[in-house]
Amino acid sequence: MKICMIGTGYVGLVSGTCFADLGNKVYCVDKDKKKINKLKNAISPIYEPGLDDLIRNNLRANRLNFTYDLEKAIKDSQIIFICVGTPTKKGSNLVDLSQVYSVAKSISKYIKNYKIIVNKSTVPVTTGDQVENIISKKVKKSLFDIVSNPEFLREGDAIRDFKYPDRIVIGSNNKKIFKKMELLYEPLIKKGAKFFCTSRKGAELIKYASNAFLATKITFINEIANLCETAGINVEDIAVGMGSDARIGSRFLRAGPAYGGSCFPKDTKGLVSIADKFKINLSIVKSVIKSNHNRKTLLTKRVLKIMNNKIKNKKIAVLGVTFKANTDDMRESSSLILIPYLLKKGAKVNYHDPSGPKKEFDKKKNLNFKNSINKACNGADLIIINTEWDEFKSIDFKKIVKKNNFKIYDMRNLYNPEELKKRNIKYYSVGR
Ligand code: UDX
Repeated sequence: MKICMIGTGYVGLVSGTCFADLGNKVYCVDKDKKKINKLKNAISPIYEPGLDDLIRNNLRANRLNFTYDLEKAIKDSQIIFICVGTPTKKGSNLVDLSQVYSVAKSISKYIKNYKIIVNKSTVPVTTGDQVENIISKKVKKSLFDIVSNPEFLREGDAIRDFKYPDRIVIGSNNKKIFKKMELLYEPLIKKGAKFFCTSRKGAELIKYASNAFLATKITFINEIANLCETAGINVEDIAVGMGSDARIGSRFLRAGPAYGGSCFPKDTKGLVSIADKFKINLSIVKSVIKSNHNRKTLLTKRVLKIMNNKIKNKKIAVLGVTFKANTDDMRESSSLILIPYLLKKGAKVNYHDPSGPKKEFDKKKNLNFKNSINKACNGADLIIINTEWDEFKSIDFKKIVKKNNFKIYDMRNLYNPEELKKRNIKYYSVGR
């Protein structure tokens, strides 16, 4: 099929490239000409393992076409995906839909024959109705349908999550649409993906409810970890014991620092604002937001305790600063609270991240990016492991620190406490 993805961010670029890899002819459109010119040379603006090769292969096969000519892309396509950003409005729980509405207005200028218009961006319940109203100001209702088709892609695993989804959710108020969308997703359905059709508002809510539930699950195990630390229990045993129950499931039960990223923080707040609009109180989601926020300060207090309140002039190495491994995304990362706190307390901080130095930490006094684990950890009094990159999973600490009495605070439980105890390394972790 011929499709057009409007927006070449995490959702549009990954989904567009993967749709091309399934054999479709795909236009990826963005108004950022610099970004489009880089993409034409297979230079991806986002850090996503495996994406560069996939872009290159599909450019070569002439299935993928990067352009800022929206009119041509819409004219040549049967299905048009809206994949623009829907950030949280500053200082509120509200979702900023200005990009979605502006794209809807642009689309309405170019529709001359029937098109399926798909909201793939994460949008509040009833956004599909608003988009329909905007487009129907210029285009006859018989010439388009608005569909909701949320994505469930994790950064760092986005290609796998696209190619092997647990489910494909299609929301429409027009039953004939489901057949067309089923055709587009047929290769994935054949490999076992569940194809689930519901109302448009239902599909919009499924996305928020899914992310809010995953955030709840993580926050739940993080709070259980707090109890485990005080009660002398290993939270990983609790996760295994709980997760073995098929009704609970073992995934997303890894205790760690507060969850971050561009989605969970935004979508939990977005869901609360949707419920507020319907005058419904989502007390659980609200408490998840609060608990996760408080966790960031809880972790800094934990560092103070580990260092016996002596942080001034201490050398601290932070391994991993992004919100999780296999991404360069710093959004809502717990390091954005932790590192400034350490600096404020007078520490000298080196950080290393396999995805490179971060602009958020540029030109900060007593804070330096080191391009290797060894250089970051050499001479450290405390090593904090903040993300679960593979590179951090088998470090010979004594060999690289070259100092006695150093401590390790492993926020991702990458190491076995007993092992390190045997080697007389002072090791602290989460919930153990
Ligand atoms: C999430 C959803 O998983 C995905 O389906 C949705 O489309 C986008 O939002 P993402 O934010 O990229 O994906 O990353 P994810 O792997 O879900 O992790 C989110 C946060 O939760 C990270 O900070 C991660 O470190 C944390 N996390 C995740 C845990 O602390 N424990 C876990 O067991 C899993």
